[in-house]
Amino acid sequence: MPDKSAGLRDVIAGSSTICYLDGEQGILRYCGYPIEELAQHSTFEEVAYLLWHGELPAVNQLQPLAGRLASATVPQQVWNAIGDLGPVQVMDALRTGVSALAGHDPDYGDDSPAALLRKSERLTAQTSSIVAGAWRISQGQMPLDPDPELGFAANFLYQLRGERPSEVAARSLDIALILHAEHELNASTFAGRVIAATLTDLHSAITGAIGALKGPLHGGANSAALQMLLQIGDKENAEDAIRQRLARRQLVMGFGHAVYRTADPRAGVLREMSRQLGEDVGDLTLFELSGAIEEIMMREKGLNANVDFYSASVYHNLEIPVDLFTPIFAISRMTGWTAHIIEQVGNNRIIRPRLDYTGAWERDYVPIEKRGLNPA
Ligand code: COA
Repeated sequence: MPDKSAGLRDVIAGSSTICYLDGEQGILRYCGYPIEELAQHSTFEEVAYLLWHGELPAVNQLQPLAGRLASATVPQQVWNAIGDLGPVQVMDALRTGVSALAGHDPDYGDDSPAALLRKSERLTAQTSSIVAGAWRISQGQMPLDPDPELGFAANFLYQLRGERPSEVAARSLDIALILHAEHELNASTFAGRVIAATLTDLHSAITGAIGALKGPLHGGANSAALQMLLQIGDKENAEDAIRQRLARRQLVMGFGHAVYRTADPRAGVLREMSRQLGEDVGDLTLFELSGAIEEIMMREKGLNANVDFYSASVYHNLEIPVDLFTPIFAISRMTGWTAHIIEQVGNNRIIRPRLDYTGAWERDYVPIEKRGLNPA
């Protein structure tokens, strides 16, 4: 048997042209472009195009894409299916919604490269609508269609609240979406690629990826981080609270990473956004508390904040409900997931690792009448 690696750490499971990640030096690039530059200069729509096509779009390529993203709608049957779920988390509504969308997609049954691309665009737009709409349904309101005049991030906030957002809010979310769009072979992308490699349909692979993202060790960490921040409340309480958690061997959400051994470059951009938004709303409590926790975690455990830590205070300052933090991650990551699925299918080999068997060795079968009674 080849060497085993718990959690498949440092195993190279294939080749990709989508994302370069250097965990030692804290470098993240999408198709060669540093994440910091994309966050500063591009829009989420440009990044989506980049991930799907490997190149930044020209104006005549970007505008039609932006138009398609702002016009895809969710069929009423899918809203009905979501409405019938009862009081579930938005991530669960999204998982069901994406699965239900499969049969309503105009390219249902067509897995050609062109159809996969069309489905990827539609799913990205529909995911944003479902997250906002499922939240509105949970609040007793009707889902809203996108406003074709608005950009992707602004549309999400509009579909959530029914009013056009401020430019600052829309651009802040736009940057957060860029930062979360892609991250190489993380757990949910791996899940998506494994499913896609069986040559099943795109919606099946994405449904699995959403399930993987939901977990608190992955995308679920951002909402857990905010809950922790609100519980601790103020930087004065940070030292005691974090030391107690660590003494109880509890995880401090938003810290540590399976790949980065240095600062997560996405956290740096989000930290600055968190400070700016805190200043804008005249309340730096969460930002200062976050900084205090970062200092303690580095001192006590040598661990850096990851993307989920500062996205928590950013979203909170944008007055986004905590239940939507992980679903917003899914909206953004839909671009990365679909890019990987297209890449996987385009050069496919079914993914089938092995396990190191540690169970009982060969045994003689005992017929049931000879096994006696189990005391339990
Ligand atoms: N809080 C407290 N301790 C942590 C920690 C955290 N957030 N993250 C890692 N550690 C500890 C581990 O328990 C381990 O301690 P040990 O050696 O005493 O057992 C040590 O640090 C090294 O962990 P490591 O092997 O680097 O972690 P991993 O690769 O198995 O797991 C994560 C990576 C991301 C799953 C893990 O850091 C984690 O659970 N973080 C919190 C959840 C989170 O923020 N997830 C989002 C990731 S983007």
